[in-house]
Order: sequence, then structure tokens, then C-alpha cells
Amino acid sequence: MYKNVSILGAGSWGMGVAKLLQENGLKVKLWEYNESDYQIIKNQRCHPKKLKNIFLHKDIDVTNDLDYAVDKIDLVVSAIPSQSLRSVLEIIPKGKFKDCPIVNLAKGIETTTLKRMSEVIIEVLEHPSGLVTTLSGPSHAEEVTANIPTAVVIAGEDDELLAKLQIIFSNNTFRTYQSNDLIGVELGGSLKNIIAIAAGICAGLKQGDNTLGALITRGLAEMSRLGVAMGARLETFSGLSGIGDLITTCASVHSRNRYVGEHIGMGKKLDVILSSMAMIAEGVQTTKSGYNLAKKYKVEMPITNEVYEVLFNNKPPDIAVGDLMKRELKSEIWN
Ligand SMILES: NC(=O)c1ccc[n+]([C@@H]2O[C@H](COP(=O)([O-])OP(=O)(O)OC[C@H]3O[C@@H](n4cnc5c(N)ncnc54)[C@H](O)[C@@H]3O)[C@@H](O)[C@H]2O)c1
Repeated sequence: MYKNVSILGAGSWGMGVAKLLQENGLKVKLWEYNESDYQIIKNQRCHPKKLKNIFLHKDIDVTNDLDYAVDKIDLVVSAIPSQSLRSVLEIIPKGKFKDCPIVNLAKGIETTTLKRMSEVIIEVLEHPSGLVTTLSGPSHAEEVTANIPTAVVIAGEDDELLAKLQIIFSNNTFRTYQSNDLIGVELGGSLKNIIAIAAGICAGLKQGDNTLGALITRGLAEMSRLGVAMGARLETFSGLSGIGDLITTCASVHSRNRYVGEHIGMGKKLDVILSSMAMIAEGVQTTKSGYNLAKKYKVEMPITNEVYEVLFNNKPPDIAVGDLMKRELKSEIWN
């Protein structure tokens, strides 16, 4: 069983998973690239701006030396956000951890290549595809670290590896399921952030529960349409990484993507909102990827298109909502 894990990225989720795995008995190295964040975490054993009131055990080895972080380990967990993952992997010597399973935690799609995170990992590290997995689902770090019951899914090709990872990650308050639908799990976790921005926009515009219910349902329909076109299984979107994460993110006070949308709905500018945030809101860049994937696969994604127009072409949010309501009338079930 794996014992020595390197966690890349000591943001809110990297720290949360470091705490989880250390408490589950693993020896954890936690790598942070940003010098000032590294100093804060190393000296205070916490990062008040990223994860309030959570202190890392002294046995978690916090480092900003990447070579050291990936030396003598048998498991890699990546909590690097999706648009930065490639640049981090590119500076790791090829073959450095060639037999190690890799667990990706990021929820996003690379804007430049439209690739999912497992595809980026396999491409850059030339890693065996069977060793590359993604953990996803409704799992706010704030709640996981407070031992609030949480369930997630780990997806990959190799059932034996997934079973081992399930054991390593699970405890009395963190339950893991396994899935072989890596495409569906990665797309669900990424695309739901676009819908969460839309949910925030509606909240900012003071729309109601009916609107939220409609948005989640129709959001899931367009996420599933794209997923199936890209080779995912439809039923994955009914699972934890699909509807589970979508509901949580659209409704939660912890969601940064919903937060971005809410402030857009209240009339603030995107760059002003993003510059006031200490943590990443993956949905903003994923909106570009979702928009371009919809074009590439010729899939209708009206909510994604409207979010794109609002974020990047200054379309007034109330007009965007109006345009969604005025679309041609159609059957609810797509095939
Ligand atoms: N926070 C959560 O509750 C949560 C839960 C599930 C999944 N996720 C996903 O995990 C990923 C990380 O989220 P987070 O909440 O930890 O974000 P965060 O903003 O708190 O931290 C981001 C981390 O990435 C590092 N980073 C950013 N750019 C980098 C670069 N160019 N090179 C190296 N490191 C870089 C930062 O230094 C920081 O450690 C995201 O994809 C997010 O969607 C987060």
C-alpha cells in the first residue's frame, strides 16, 4: 500500500487533502511554489486567507523545493489549478515518479488545448494512463477539514488501483466511490463551475428558487449532452461528480464560482471581482473551454454560451437571462 505521498499545491484543497491523508496514516510532503504562501504555511501551519482555523500537523512536511517534494514518494496528488498544471509538470524531470499513481484534484479544462487534466498529465509526463486518476465530487475543503460527512468519486482505468486509493482516502467522514468513467467525472467536476457562475448571477439579480431549480436541471442537461458527445457515460452525470457537485456548488456559500457570478449579477466587473479573491475560481477559465468544446462537438449549451457572453463580451446579465427564457420552445428530454 502507498505510504509516502507528495501533494503538489498547498492551496485550500491541497492543505485539506494533506490533513486528510496525514490523519489517515500517510507520510505527507506538501509543495507550495509561491514563496510568501510557503512561508505563511510553514511558519503558522495554516493559511488564514485560504483555510481558516485549520492547522496542519507538524508531521506534514511543507516545502517549496519541487525536486525534494517529488523524491522518494510512491503517490502523487496534484492540487494545482487546471491552467497551471502543465507548467508545473513540465519542470519535473521525465520519469521522476514513473511508477507512481497520480491523483488529480483540479476541476477544470485547459483553455489552450481543451484537454482534461488526466490528458495533460499523461501527455506531459508520458505517464501510463492506468496510473492517472481524478478525485472529484462535492467536497469543499472547509467542510472536509471540519469532518463534515463527504462522499466523492475516484475515477481511473485500473480497478485494483482505484480500490487501493479508496482505502487510502476514506475515513469515518470521507467516503470514496470508484468509477471507470474518467471523461465523465472530469467533465462533470469542471462544467458544473460554469453553471455555478450562472446560479450566482441569478442570485445577484435577486431571482428566485424556481430559477435556481431550472438552472441546475437545464445545466445538467447541457453538461450531459457535451459529456456524451465526448465519450462520457450519461449515468456519471447523475453521480457525485455530476448532479452531486452541481447542486452543492450552485447552492453553497463556500463556492467561489457562485460568488463570482453573484457579484457579476450585482453589476461588478469581472477583473475587479477576481483581483479581490485570494483563491482560484476555476469556472471563469472553464467557461472559455466549455464554450469552445460546445462548438467543437457541435453541442447546444445555451447556459454556457450566455455565461461566456456575460463574462467576456460584457453582455448585461439580465439580458442574458431574458435570452435564455426566450429561446425556441422544445421537448425537455434530449436524445
Ligand atoms: N477548495 C476546495 O474546496 C476544492 C475542492 C475540490 C476541488 N478543488 C479544486 O482543486 C484545485 C485547487 O483549488 P484550491 O481551492 O486549492 O485553490 P487555491 O486558490 O486555494 O490554491 C491554488 C494552489 O495552486 C498553486 N498554484 C497556482 N498557480 C500555480 C503555478 N503556476 N505553479 C504552481 N502552483 C500554482 C497556488 O500556489 C496554490 O497552492 C482547483 O482546481 C479546484 O477547483 C478545490
